[in-house]
Amino acid sequence: MNLDLPIRIDDYKSIVFFTGAGMSAESGIWTYRGKGGLWSEYNWQEYACQRAFKLDPEKVLKFHEMRREKIIDCVPHKGHYLISKLEEQHNITIITQNIDGMHQKAGSRNVIELHGSHWHLRCPKHGLREDFGKKYRSYKCEMCGSWLRPDIIWFEDCLEERIINDAIETVLRADLFISIGTSAVVWPAAGMPRYAKQNNALCIEINPEETEMSALYDLTIREAASSGLITLFGNTNERIL
Ligand code: APR
Repeated sequence: MNLDLPIRIDDYKSIVFFTGAGMSAESGIWTYRGKGGLWSEYNWQEYACQRAFKLDPEKVLKFHEMRREKIIDCVPHKGHYLISKLEEQHNITIITQNIDGMHQKAGSRNVIELHGSHWHLRCPKHGLREDFGKKYRSYKCEMCGSWLRPDIIWFEDCLEERIINDAIETVLRADLFISIGTSAVVWPAAGMPRYAKQNNALCIEINPEETEMSALYDLTIREAASSGLITLFGNTNERIL
């Protein structure tokens, strides 16, 4: 499709930004796959699944604590701020696979975290708690002594019904769907653009590399997140940054 760029965002009534680890790469946060990806260095079967947590909760908590320590001082980049600025005047929902909290740190409020958050822990008896420190306040629940589980969707986990349904309903209403920095290999998140297509949304992919879902998009911008967003929305937004 030949689309005049920059697009006129005012032409769209319901906009979804669908982000993956590549959205945070310019903030200095790992991606999972590709060169230097987290899973090329660590075996997720030892650190990021319920079996591993059951086997050795302390080892899994230490791994997640190490990852939090490495990202706690990372800051959002101009692409995050561009999206949060656009949110002020447009009906925008961010559906992210990221657990780093960067969109919220940039001021975005309407964020659906499909895969949970590094900054939440869950006690099996006493539920969810926030924990924003460099180190976890505690590995165990103060009330019952149970091991606290990072509130992250790990491999072999099922997504929370309410969250995935909320995301799908939002995408089915979108008339503009912009995917940024995801390899589109982890389901059900990878299926999001198909729902956008069902609603005949304009679908745009921002990723330096081709992905398994690229053919589905009306426009692919082979750039990094922040420059791709400026290509898409024009440098008029640079005043935002
Ligand atoms: N800007 C935009 N995209 C980028 C950038 C960048 N600066 N750098 C890398 N990318 C792209 C890569 O080309 C790749 O397609 O970001 C994508 C990152 O892919 P993954 O590392 O697989 O991350 P993601 O798609 O978010 O992974 C999905 O897998 O391990 C699970 O739960 C984890 O949420 C994660 C899910």
